[in-house]
Amino acid sequence: MPELRLEMNDPNTVRVCLLVSIVLLSCFCVKSQLTTDFYSSTCPNLLKIVRKQVKDAIKRETRMAASLLRLHFHDCFVNGCDGSVLLDGSNGEKFAGPNLNSARGFEVVDSIKRAVESQCSGVVSCADILAIAARDSVLLSGGPTWKVLLGRRDGLVANQTGSNTNIPSPFDTLDTIINKFANVGLNTIDVVALSGAHTIGSARCVTFSNRLFNFSTADAVDPTLDSTMAADLQSLCPENGDGNKTTSLDRNSIDLFDSHYFTNLVNNKGLLSSDQILFSSDEALSITKAIVEKYTDSSTFFTDFVNSMINMGNINPLTGSNGEIRKNCRVVNS
Ligand code: HEM
Repeated sequence: MPELRLEMNDPNTVRVCLLVSIVLLSCFCVKSQLTTDFYSSTCPNLLKIVRKQVKDAIKRETRMAASLLRLHFHDCFVNGCDGSVLLDGSNGEKFAGPNLNSARGFEVVDSIKRAVESQCSGVVSCADILAIAARDSVLLSGGPTWKVLLGRRDGLVANQTGSNTNIPSPFDTLDTIINKFANVGLNTIDVVALSGAHTIGSARCVTFSNRLFNFSTADAVDPTLDSTMAADLQSLCPENGDGNKTTSLDRNSIDLFDSHYFTNLVNNKGLLSSDQILFSSDEALSITKAIVEKYTDSSTFFTDFVNSMINMGNINPLTGSNGEIRKNCRVVNS
């Protein structure tokens, strides 16, 4: 066999290097094999079926839009968007800190799945149902819309530890939050744009009451929290009161998907510490403050939110013959 010699000034070496670079580049650039028309022949009415179920659910309870949007986020940050958050069982993600007594909407996902199965059995993944339901929830709350990329398959395992470590906590610093997003391939713009999801939905007292009492040695109350809002929250969430009581994340326009979340931040009216630090922390000055100010304009926010939702939906999907199409979103197929 002739000996293969690579020398930098040899045209063959240059050709080999070029070929290797092209192969490597194409591996990195192919973000996902998801497509918008994935079910066009196997489940042509899919989008209509999901839209109707989400509409009915929101009619029954407006907050459900927020809960469904959050489920897609909590799914994608753990093992990628693979429906793992939906799996039942005490070792599952439902029992992880960010989800316990908090994540909701599982019954609605069940009813969407049942409606989809009745028309196209064994074809549509639970992970894709979450992605479509999240988009519909935003749109039906007055927000922007987009074409959802589809073709994800469902994971075979839940990852409770992953849920505890990957999903940002309301008590994290901005650096930590940015790192947790970076770990799943999302950048600082994604952090701010996706935090805008807090324009709808609610949070429990336990997630922000640290800002109201014994905040620090210097300040009893978080100084970056508007004092009238602080007083209001103190009466709603008294010290040693019911931590599971809830209030709206965006008190300016509770159920409307708009840019008021960002106006709130500029006015020191963010509910969670992890919201307000996007504008008020020392790190925010150089990283996120200007983005928050930009997003007080709703069309700028909407454009970036859509991009970031697509980025989030692209986190490590299972495709091809990986994973499965679950029959019941709560359990892996037997
Ligand atoms: C940036 C880091 C984030 C942190 C620290 C965070 C934290 C939280 C917390 C603590 C709650 C209240 C949970 C409870 O009281 O039970 C909440 C609610 C919510 N989060 Fe986030 N979140 C973040 C990012 C996101 C993202 C990226 C989305 C979606 C794209 C999202 C969507 C929501 C929604 C819609 C609610 C309200 C849910 C409901 O009312 O059922 N959050 N979040």
